[in-house]
Amino acid sequence: MEFSIKIGSPEKQRAACVVIGVFEPRKLTMAGELIDSASAGYLKEILRRGDMEGKLGSTLLLHHVPNTLCERVLLVGLGKAPEFKDKQYRDAVAAAIKALNDTGATDAVVTLTELPVKRRDTGWKVEQAVVAAMESMYRFTQLKSKQDEPPRPLRKITLSVSQRNELKLGQEAVQRGMAIAHGVHLAKDLGNLPGNICTPTYLAEQARSLAKKHGLKAEVLEQKDMEKLGMGSLLSVSKGSRQPPKLIILHYQGGNKKQKPIVLVGKGITFDAGGISLKPAAEMDEMKYDMCGAASVFGTMQAVAELHLPLNVIGIVPACENLPDGNANKPGDVVTSMSGQTIEILNTDAEGRLILCDALTYAERFDPEAVVDIATLTGACVIALGHHASGLFSNNDALARELTHAGEFSLDRVWQLPLWDDYQEQLKSNFADMGNIGGRAGGSITAACFLSRFTKKFDWAHLDIAGTAWKSGAQKGATGRPVALLVQFLVQKAG
Ligand code: BES
Ligand code: MN
Ligand code: ZN
Repeated sequence: MEFSIKIGSPEKQRAACVVIGVFEPRKLTMAGELIDSASAGYLKEILRRGDMEGKLGSTLLLHHVPNTLCERVLLVGLGKAPEFKDKQYRDAVAAAIKALNDTGATDAVVTLTELPVKRRDTGWKVEQAVVAAMESMYRFTQLKSKQDEPPRPLRKITLSVSQRNELKLGQEAVQRGMAIAHGVHLAKDLGNLPGNICTPTYLAEQARSLAKKHGLKAEVLEQKDMEKLGMGSLLSVSKGSRQPPKLIILHYQGGNKKQKPIVLVGKGITFDAGGISLKPAAEMDEMKYDMCGAASVFGTMQAVAELHLPLNVIGIVPACENLPDGNANKPGDVVTSMSGQTIEILNTDAEGRLILCDALTYAERFDPEAVVDIATLTGACVIALGHHASGLFSNNDALARELTHAGEFSLDRVWQLPLWDDYQEQLKSNFADMGNIGGRAGGSITAACFLSRFTKKFDWAHLDIAGTAWKSGAQKGATGRPVALLVQFLVQKAG
């Protein structure tokens, strides 16, 4: 897909389709008014007949609109004007692209970018339009033997702006939007791949090819290397698997050598059956998504490289499977983490924290400016926040604020939960320094508390993406979250 920025009257656009917004009830936007007057009231007549109310996300395709140079006009509902904000803007753009995909149009001029959106400038509107458009075109078809969907002709989208000085801003925003969209795409693909294909070894290969393509450096630590480092907690999880574990490290150097890096750590359980504390069968297939934290790190690293951000960023991905086996962890086993702290494994299904704790200790060697880990860590987080916000925990308020802001801006939102010491008691063990679970109460908080014991030496934030990384049901599929949030966070850091 190709995106460009342009100024010009909508009725004079020589395009296969011009996209026009309609507020509820039946109110044309400025671009709509221009087409309406050129066509002697054609649009208003259609609205008057009641064919289009303007409900958010609804669409109506018109052919042969008089006195226009375009083949089609697509009306898109924007909802009620006072309720039209950033989220509604993005939903409207997504609905328009989705409808365009079902037409024969090869190119389109989208005028929604000219609409005022509270607190957002043209750069934001263009970036979001690109991300939303790319998002609504994503399909995961690589494992189907036949491509049964008809090919889609849409090739070029022009986003209109009203002033000349917005052209350059717009062009830069297209670049940003594309980098985010590519990162989201990569994260979705990796997430959607099943556990028999997307193994720890596969992830390591992906890291190497990502490094080659985008000028990153990839390092892969093998089991032996991890043994030498004393990663007894991480390795205990992979013991029950026939796939060798990998610790994948990606380095991006966009800043000078002395600049401290931002470190991203992504949970890379390529399949989580629970281990001996076996999960129930229903929906267990979705545990192929337990590496979505890792996928988001890969997607973000790719975007950062594509944008040449003037920062140093390191991605760390501990990757392994969590399966039941004669050699697997057993409830009650005690392991020693790389930090030296001992852990009683009371539930083998709380494996994410067991691999993350050693990866977080490993992060110390990079003397990081900040560490952000991303993990599909707890079902409890889904209960607390549902599927809209990722859970945020941090030992540093400024870092938490930066991430919260990045989430609001990118519409990839987070909500902070407490990390108070009061919760730490729940991790007490009679046999080791800590247990790996803290009971049902506040399950996502005690998981974060567990991680906090391994992050004392740096500013750290934890994103629990259990509810946001993928969708279940008929729309089952990875979302690519929180790539948009992380890229925005790093853009802010670079700026
Ligand atoms: N990967 C799961 C968390 C998960 C579960 C994410 C369901 C999304 C949907 C994690 O490894 C896990 O199994 N966590 C346990 C922890 C519990 C045993 C303390 C959970 O949430 O049930
Ligand atoms: Mn688990
Ligand atoms: Zn898991």
